[in-house]
Amino acid sequence: MRTLIVGVGALGGLIAARLRATGSPVWLATRDAGSAARLQTSGLRVTGVGGALAVEAAEVAPVEAYAARDRFDLIVLATKAQDAIDVAPALVRLLGPAGTLLPIQNGGVSQILADQLGQDRVLGGISNLGATMATPGVYEQRNAGHLLVGELAGRESERAARVRDWLGRAVEVRVTPNLRGAVWSKLLLNCSVTTIGAIAGRTMREYIAAPDGRELFERAYDEALSVALATGARPERMLVDPVPPGWSGRRLPGVAHDAWVGQILGAYGDLKPSMLQDLERGRTTEIDFINGYVAGLARASGVPTPANAAIVETVHAITRGQLVPGPTLLGRALGRGG
Ligand SMILES: NC(=O)c1ccc[n+]([C@@H]2O[C@H](COP(=O)([O-])OP(=O)(O)OC[C@H]3O[C@@H](n4cnc5c(N)ncnc54)[C@H](OP(=O)(O)O)[C@@H]3O)[C@@H](O)[C@H]2O)c1
Repeated sequence: MRTLIVGVGALGGLIAARLRATGSPVWLATRDAGSAARLQTSGLRVTGVGGALAVEAAEVAPVEAYAARDRFDLIVLATKAQDAIDVAPALVRLLGPAGTLLPIQNGGVSQILADQLGQDRVLGGISNLGATMATPGVYEQRNAGHLLVGELAGRESERAARVRDWLGRAVEVRVTPNLRGAVWSKLLLNCSVTTIGAIAGRTMREYIAAPDGRELFERAYDEALSVALATGARPERMLVDPVPPGWSGRRLPGVAHDAWVGQILGAYGDLKPSMLQDLERGRTTEIDFINGYVAGLARASGVPTPANAAIVETVHAITRGQLVPGPTLLGRALGRGG
């Protein structure tokens, strides 16, 4: 499978290096010529879970340097969400006749691109792999996670199995017949655990100890789950059941519900939210593809999502420098001033 990896950051660099180390040819696309030149000099080095390795990065060029003659069977799109939406239409002309684009961003990116470019061109993907990039060319695999791929139309397919077998030489890849459900399961947690942690400047375990934190978590989760179900998605169980016990459009308070929140805390409660790291580094966040995606779908399906809309507005205000992450923003997002 002639493979192009677009976006040689934390995840793209990790996958590229591990695929190259198997002896497979792999081409890399960076945002600009300077980044490509630096990678050519540095090569790719990986440490962490899965073992250390170092490979050359010979076939690397800025994305616009690839032309239609460079047809690929697989393009792994590993940029951040907004960049993926921007660059994807230009990548379609680089696909061979049966070529597949595989976006691996969180949130609504796979679905948006499949709607825009056609389901025959886009295979859905999300990543439970964790990776960081110390400097360009230097990556660390942080967990023993996997890429999850599947048809957004919700069926088994030969191409999903082929992509699994091919990329599975580099990192663990699993196929699911319910990719939409898996995307939503992660989105439900990103909408609540991650983004509320980002605005509070705290881990979930820290922010949920405050009544406003608990209230915002419950509201954001209930809203997002209502939207997921209204769109026909069937969120899949990850570490925790995505549907709280006794849920009927909203939570059923009680011991069982508290235990369910406790399970989420046990799995994700002590992680520093990745979006908080983006805010601290002054980087653009993916909020429009997380809570913003949910709020956008909600408008179409008539489900009210005021908490998710407030979280989006709060993150944008932080990005503009008008607010600073902190626990007072929890009450503000609930409309209680602050
Ligand atoms: N890292 C993880 O552990 C992890 C886990 C799960 C999901 N994800 C998701 O995976 C996606 C990628 O995450 P990441 O952590 O790998 O991000 P990242 O480290 O920021 O890497 C993105 C890379 O894409 C490059 N890029 C941007 N626009 C481009 C373009 N038009 N053409 C070619 N390259 C371009 C960026 O270059 P510049 O630096 O020049 O912008 C950067 O090197 C995100 O949606 C993230 O939410 C990541």
